[in-house]
Amino acid sequence: MTAADEQLPRRFGRFVLFDKIGEGGMARIYLAKSSTGLGGDRRVVVKQILPLLSDNSEFSRLFIDEAKLSAKLTHGSIAQIIDLGREEGRLYIAMEYVEGFDLRELLRACSKKQVPLPVEFALLIVSEILRALDYAHRKRDENGKKLGIVHRDVSPSNVLISFEGEVKLCDFGIARAMGSGEDVPEEAIQGKAGYMSPEAANGESLDGRADVFAAGIMLWELLAGRRLYRSAKGSSGPSLEQAQQAVVPELPARGYPDEARLHGIAMKLLSKDREKRYADAHDALRELEDYVAENSLVASPLRFGEWLMEHFGAEILERRQHNEQAANEVLDQDLDGMPEKQQPVVAPQAAASLSAAGSEVQIPAAFSDRQPKSDPVSAPSFEPPPPSLQAFVRPSEPAPESAGKAWLWIALAVLAIVAVAVYFMTRPGPTP
Ligand SMILES: Nc1ncnc2c1ncn2[C@@H]1O[C@H](COP(=O)(O)OP(=O)(O)OP(=O)(O)O)[C@@H](O)[C@H]1O
Ligand SMILES: [Mg+2]
Repeated sequence: MTAADEQLPRRFGRFVLFDKIGEGGMARIYLAKSSTGLGGDRRVVVKQILPLLSDNSEFSRLFIDEAKLSAKLTHGSIAQIIDLGREEGRLYIAMEYVEGFDLRELLRACSKKQVPLPVEFALLIVSEILRALDYAHRKRDENGKKLGIVHRDVSPSNVLISFEGEVKLCDFGIARAMGSGEDVPEEAIQGKAGYMSPEAANGESLDGRADVFAAGIMLWELLAGRRLYRSAKGSSGPSLEQAQQAVVPELPARGYPDEARLHGIAMKLLSKDREKRYADAHDALRELEDYVAENSLVASPLRFGEWLMEHFGAEILERRQHNEQAANEVLDQDLDGMPEKQQPVVAPQAAASLSAAGSEVQIPAAFSDRQPKSDPVSAPSFEPPPPSLQAFVRPSEPAPESAGKAWLWIALAVLAIVAVAVYFMTRPGPTP
């Protein structure tokens, strides 16, 4: 990695990278601008695959195959892939920028601020994950042939939550490439066991039920307020053996409505034997939606967004300002005047673009097995896990009715005034 690679803003094909927002064992994530034909621009996320992996032909082949399939997914609960290509010798994916937190960050922020996440929002998050999975698993090509998409890495860092309260799953299928070769560095694969199905841990061939299991782990953790698999001291996360054994403790009682039914859904998602799990994400979503509706736990993105703003408004504004500032630096700089190395590598083959082809928080500081790459809220460490029986997610509170009623009275009063005014204005005047 050269110094020029680190310098921002810089051009990268048809993008201008202006802020680094994450780095993992596999990729660097940048916030970028992409210019549109008539001079407008749009913010996107560019996921630049690390050189070692970009140079690995087996990895590249699988990565491109999977990303081409994922680019076909168009759904409100999935972060849309915009472009896929190779630039400066690096594979990259450009995708929709979801301005907000990932679920791991949100849980850390809740933990730090001691703000419990209302259970209806926890259920909204899991429902949206299942909705995204259901759509992707069922996706067919133009000829009606099933694409056979499996996410393979459903985990909190791949669940993006926008400040508007939308929930979007990202990184479909990319994990498949990770298991592709001996050259794939250990740190890229590390820490994946925490959300792995037993069949994945056993190296069996996978279908959508592996993702259903991972969604079950997230539901279990949100309801329990702790990680499902506790990692051994000094380890970077739960072990493959833990994922293979898939021992799921009973969920603690938290006082949620019809709790046995909710626990039943979580435990069915987490059946070790996939034949005993929900047959697919669709069935699981139906049961969860029925539970939510029958227990008046329906939540909307609008309400979720308001709740995020209420509790994390300062962080949200800080992040927005940071992004704005970084983006404005792009405007202030004459990118064409940049040193030779940072000039666009204008590949006539359009950057070899492939896209067209194809209760109370005490705990979960570590909803990741990896060390945070950038930790905006500097969460406390999860090790050793405090044996808390407090719910991370708190039971829902009834919505305040008085506010709604007040609006009704005001509206009625305004209507009455308008009616009286209209009456006097249209009344025939006194006959002379
Ligand atoms: N489309 C996006 N919009 C906004 N933020 C994103 C987007 N994609 C990724 N991020 C942020 O960048 C972080 C790092 O992403 P990356 O996929 O490299 O690592 P990861 O999700 O922790 O690991 P992995 O995907 O390999 O399991 C994410 O956790 C998320 O916070
Ligand atoms: Mg990711």
